[in-house]
Amino acid sequence: MRAARFHEYGGTEKLVVEEASEPHPGPGEIRVRVAATSVNPIDWKLRSGALQRLLPVALPAIPGRDAAGVVDEIGDGVQGANIGDRVFGLCGVTGATAELVVLSAWAHTPATWKDEQAAGAGLASVTAMRGLNALGSLSGRTLLVEGAAGGVGSAAVEIAVAQGATVVGTASERNHEFLSSLGAIPTTYGPGLEQRLATLVPNGVDVALDTAASGSLGDLVVITGDPARVATVADHANGQRLGTHVVNAENDSSLLVAAADLGRHGRYIPHIEEIFPLERIADAHARAERGRTRGKIVICI
Ligand SMILES: NC(=O)c1ccc[n+]([C@@H]2O[C@H](COP(=O)([O-])OP(=O)(O)OC[C@H]3O[C@@H](n4cnc5c(N)ncnc54)[C@H](OP(=O)(O)O)[C@@H]3O)[C@@H](O)[C@H]2O)c1
Repeated sequence: MRAARFHEYGGTEKLVVEEASEPHPGPGEIRVRVAATSVNPIDWKLRSGALQRLLPVALPAIPGRDAAGVVDEIGDGVQGANIGDRVFGLCGVTGATAELVVLSAWAHTPATWKDEQAAGAGLASVTAMRGLNALGSLSGRTLLVEGAAGGVGSAAVEIAVAQGATVVGTASERNHEFLSSLGAIPTTYGPGLEQRLATLVPNGVDVALDTAASGSLGDLVVITGDPARVATVADHANGQRLGTHVVNAENDSSLLVAAADLGRHGRYIPHIEEIFPLERIADAHARAERGRTRGKIVICI
């Protein structure tokens, strides 16, 4: 099969498109003929070697954590998936930027989503949901999403709005119209956030989700009044220091099913900023690595 790979850690120039051996599903897994995969920060952090000590990968490695496509092989014990079904979901920390990938968590792709949107929903929706779930019921509450325009942040906004929250999202000004279109009240991040929020939501912010890792976690604790009202998916060190919820994604099919249900009802439509062909994997990584993505960067296989 054709796949993107890197044979050693380094910059985007280490990415090549070449033949690789086909994977096969183990018990409880499915193999998918990939239509599209998305770029997540973990992909370029792994490729660069920045996570080499924490999360070493076997080289050569195929980048990519999530994918969408059609089931083409089914492992022992799998129920509810048939050859030819349209699905999206999660593999290990690597493996998705290839013609074939093995998924251990998945859901059926709603007819309302193109494959590119389904690819953008994998890791982002699971991460957003786990972050939001840590904050308790959102119905009738005011949520602040720090870093609301990115992959995880924009998913969190849509999911929280669907759950009945009033959502304030931070982003640079060029993304404010985008945040409004998702149902959030936009504001800028950085100094003076507390004062801006006092004007925008005079009754205060009940809970906050950080997806930005910008060093603002202490401010979010002050704004909500309690570290237990704050969750981060991005700033593990400060989260642990301050006693906020620190949340990681998990390969949990039930969360993907919930995301797909929202998609089916038009409540969660993953926003795709740009689609790259497989041959331009290096450009896709470079684009995502700049940290200014609105929604998701997707690679078509
Ligand atoms: N724990 C886990 O399992 C897990 C899973 C997935 C992701 N993550 C982490 O979560 C973070 C977000 O992931 P992602 O996929 O959403 O990344 P992303 O899509 O690359 O995020 C880009 C967004 O970040 C915003 N941003 C940049 N600086 C900001 C700041 N100082 N304040 C607020 N927003 C800022 C940008 O908005 P502007 O352009 O408007 O500035 C842009 O829209 C990453 O650190 C990632 O590693 C963790």
